[in-house]
Amino acid sequence: MAGDTPFKRSILCIGAGYVGGPTMAAIAAKCPQYKVTVVDINADRIAAWNSDNLPIFEPGLLDVVKIARGRNLFFSTEIDTNIQEAEVIFVSVNTPTKTFGAGAGKAADLQYWEKTARNIVKVSQSDKIIVEKSTLPVRTARAMERILNANEKGNHFEVLSNPEFLAEGTAVEDLNNPDRVLIGSQETESGLKAREVLVEIYANWIPRERILTTNVWSAELSKLTANAFLAQRISSINSISALCEKTEANIGEVARAIGMDSRIGSRFLRASVGFGGSCFKKDILNLVYICEHYGLHDVAQYWESVVAINDFQKRRFVETMLRVMFNTIAGKRIALFGFAFKADTGDTRESPAIAITRQLLEERATVVISDPEALANAKIDLADCEGGVEYVDDPYEAAKGAHAIAVMTEWDLYRELDYRKIYDNMEKPAFVFDGRNIIEHQKLYEMGFNVFPLGKSALKHF
Ligand code: NAD
Ligand code: UGA
Repeated sequence: MAGDTPFKRSILCIGAGYVGGPTMAAIAAKCPQYKVTVVDINADRIAAWNSDNLPIFEPGLLDVVKIARGRNLFFSTEIDTNIQEAEVIFVSVNTPTKTFGAGAGKAADLQYWEKTARNIVKVSQSDKIIVEKSTLPVRTARAMERILNANEKGNHFEVLSNPEFLAEGTAVEDLNNPDRVLIGSQETESGLKAREVLVEIYANWIPRERILTTNVWSAELSKLTANAFLAQRISSINSISALCEKTEANIGEVARAIGMDSRIGSRFLRASVGFGGSCFKKDILNLVYICEHYGLHDVAQYWESVVAINDFQKRRFVETMLRVMFNTIAGKRIALFGFAFKADTGDTRESPAIAITRQLLEERATVVISDPEALANAKIDLADCEGGVEYVDDPYEAAKGAHAIAVMTEWDLYRELDYRKIYDNMEKPAFVFDGRNIIEHQKLYEMGFNVFPLGKSALKHF
């Protein structure tokens, strides 16, 4: 029993974002015997979690929330009392790239995480297990343990690392059926005991053989490494897409051919206008910073090149547009199909569409942005861009009078549009630049479009 409640355990998560909300909803839905509370300093976010209009768009999430909300899942702004009640506290606050001081532009900004830790120490009246859910630099647990255990109340805090591997857009499925759950602990008696508590929580729905336990440093470093490897695959295929365009090789065929080698595998080989999302760039740069800190400059340089290729891919996308549209796009209307960093999310953090829009604006184009879920975030991202940007829900309207369409996000919607109708309403010659290779290139070419896919020969009428 947790305190005076009928629950077996009281679990708290600090940070109700893209990770905290979905992960806790999953635990609560799978484990009615636990009381799961999610707190945040952002009252609007908490209010949204308590409504049917959740603060993030994630397929299937509302159904999961509805299973448990009010039963054993609670969203609250009451941080201190909930800390006091909880035995296990997940910390899932944001850890963005530092924008100031030492390590600016690379190191992780740990201020939110540290503030949380200090608050836990201040208000706690009993021992607790603190779980690092946020992505953190390797060896953060040591610093946290020092802060947490420097209390005069005699409370003991055991720090575990339990990084999250969900991807946005598939969070519900990823949480229900993860490839693995990773739990790192100190290999001391209290560390192993705390680890067992967390294993027991996940074992409610995840087979034991998929719950991987390691030392705390391996768990912290594995998270950064996983994201670095995933991003590296995208930069690798994107770098080859540039070569395909020069040599008449086809990136789809190359990806298929190499992906059939079981040592390489077929996933994460889709060429794109560049990877986005809040984490790939931030986590790689964090890895780079850590390597530099330890004097491993060659290793740092190796990983930094993954980000450099991603910037190259975004830049060359606009360079191609400019070149083939007769070296000027000033005053031309460019319709962006999609603004989210990937399909099935409204999240636009680090979306390649942001950089592309800014480059197009530098060329004095008018950018018409369309996206089924991300327009609100797009407006925030581009708040400083006065004039030159229009936001239009309907893609047919967005493309009206446009000189070119650029596909930024692989929403299914864009595969299924009536491109004949779109073509008829565009300026001629009409161009389409497919930054995701999702539309039927030959078919659009036959309609009259000049088609520029990624990593494939262009189909043009001149
Ligand atoms: P987010 O910005 O969506 O959410 C973080 C939340 O923490 C915010 O709502 C913020 O208000 C809250 N917060 C900050 N300081 C607080 C405090 N002192 N007390 C209470 N609440 C506080 O971030 P996110 O995308 O959920 O990411 C969280 C962490 O998880 C990051 O370290 C990220 O790298 C990692 N991660 C993210 C994803 C993802 O898909 N977004 C996946 C895996 C791991
Ligand atoms: C990624 C990881 O996949 C998660 O395991 C991790 O937990 C998460 O980062 C995190 O730490 O935040 P996410 O960024 O949500 O998840 O989405 P991904 O599916 O990985 O896509 C990232 C970016 O790569 C998107 O812009 C996507 O369009 C792009 N991408 C992905 C490609 O360009 N090509 C591909 O083949 C795959």
